[in-house]
Amino acid sequence: MNLPNHIAIILDGNGRWAKRRGMPRSYGHIVGTDTLEKMCNHIADLGVRYLTVYAFSTENWKRAEEEVRTLMNLFRKYLKRIEKSAHKREMRVRIIGDKTGLPEDLQKRIAELEKVTDGYSKMDFQIALNYGGRDEIARAMTRLANDAKNGLLDEQLAEGKLQESLLASYLDTGGIPDPDLLIRTGGEQRISNFLLWQMAYTEYYFTDLAWPDFDEEALQKAIDYYNGRDRRFGDAK
Ligand code: FPP
Repeated sequence: MNLPNHIAIILDGNGRWAKRRGMPRSYGHIVGTDTLEKMCNHIADLGVRYLTVYAFSTENWKRAEEEVRTLMNLFRKYLKRIEKSAHKREMRVRIIGDKTGLPEDLQKRIAELEKVTDGYSKMDFQIALNYGGRDEIARAMTRLANDAKNGLLDEQLAEGKLQESLLASYLDTGGIPDPDLLIRTGGEQRISNFLLWQMAYTEYYFTDLAWPDFDEEALQKAIDYYNGRDRRFGDAK
């Protein structure tokens, strides 16, 4: 079996899953958090090197205040909880997205978690919070333009063309290889502004299962699908 080196997941369907059970949407996020913890452990056990999940988009602030508050609280708790398994698994944890838009205490927790797991290299786990693919590219280009203005990129830009690898190094995912497999749960078949630059050659797998119902068997189906694909194009393989 050919294991993807990098799996990206859009965690979708929590709200509808809860509604179907007559529960508030937030309940779906709570159960979804447990699912994420289980799947992260399972994916690590399989030996997948990189995992990136989409937990909160730049658009998600438009949701009801109560739901946003629950999500922020869940992120707070989760980012405390995973530190233990990060040490155990020698897993580096990074948050991608515009961290400056998150509550200050969460920014502090993120900085601590990133610092204490920075030296680990068995697995890399990226959590996208306040993330949008276009926003990521715009922030990268702003930093790049500033560096260019300050003369830091004279050599790289000498040939008059911005190299793709230079642009990629300014993204939040700089240094992380592109995803091989994207899984989206919850039945929608779109990428919703997730990793726009990085997923140019990624295999996409969509399932109707809501995220809280996603399990080991469902993941295996996604990996089997990936194995059935003929990956010859571009420089992806
Ligand atoms: C999409 O479901 C899910 C989210 C906006 C939040 C994802 C967050 C979690 C799974 C919580 C755990 C994550 C971390 C990092 C602790 P939805 O609400 O859009 O569902 P719907 O499409 O059924 O409305």
